[in-house]
Amino acid sequence: MGPSNSNDHKRTAAVRAALELEDGMVVGLGSGSTAAFAIEAIAARIKNGLRVTGIPTSEKAAALARQCGVPLTDCSQHRHIDVTIDGADEVERGTLNLIKGLGGALLREKIVAAASDRLVVVVDESKLVDCLGTRTPLPIEIVSWGWQTVLDHLADAGLEAKLRYAGNVGVPFLTDSGNYVADCLTERISDAGDLERRVAALVGVVDSGLFLGLASKVIVGSASGTTVFERAESATP
Ligand code: 5RP
Repeated sequence: MGPSNSNDHKRTAAVRAALELEDGMVVGLGSGSTAAFAIEAIAARIKNGLRVTGIPTSEKAAALARQCGVPLTDCSQHRHIDVTIDGADEVERGTLNLIKGLGGALLREKIVAAASDRLVVVVDESKLVDCLGTRTPLPIEIVSWGWQTVLDHLADAGLEAKLRYAGNVGVPFLTDSGNYVADCLTERISDAGDLERRVAALVGVVDSGLFLGLASKVIVGSASGTTVFERAESATP
């Protein structure tokens, strides 16, 4: 599948997700290319009369929302978010657990997702996996000070971690919250809950790109339209 097909499928999923919004909602605005299509689709609905307010998960999402005319607010004004629409790097079939953060916005994305009644995830088919850890590295946001020792702790926990750099200029990638990102190669993640707990316990780790039990719905765009997966209420992370 070429990049333009992939973009079409991402857009298809995003447009479908924007239909979930209703007047008066506070909406979390995700980050990444698929979430950007969702912001544009929300803006189109606003132009047709929908009244919603958005909480962006990154400076980039905020800039796009402003440019498209989506009114913005923040977590200080709204502790409760009705629905968030965001992308993902991997979606595990069955559990709908996710890996996120290749775009570097995982911390704000997780804060917004955790404050949301519903997290609607929009992806193209390439993101679906049978087991997390098979398609992408696991991004982990870490503090910048003493990052080398944090990478050692991740290695002790069995994760081959590489500091993320910004382009080819030899400067570490900095998140919107001023942290670094370690991209970790993993085996298939058979027990994501255990890995999440072990990583969260390491000094210097801010948060991981494991989003467990957070997605309520996943909308997959493909050449044949959209397929919707809903998380069973009883499903555990
Ligand atoms: C950013 C993310 C993105 O949602 C994820 O990387 C997917 O991006 P894209 O839609 O461009 O493939 O988690 O932190």
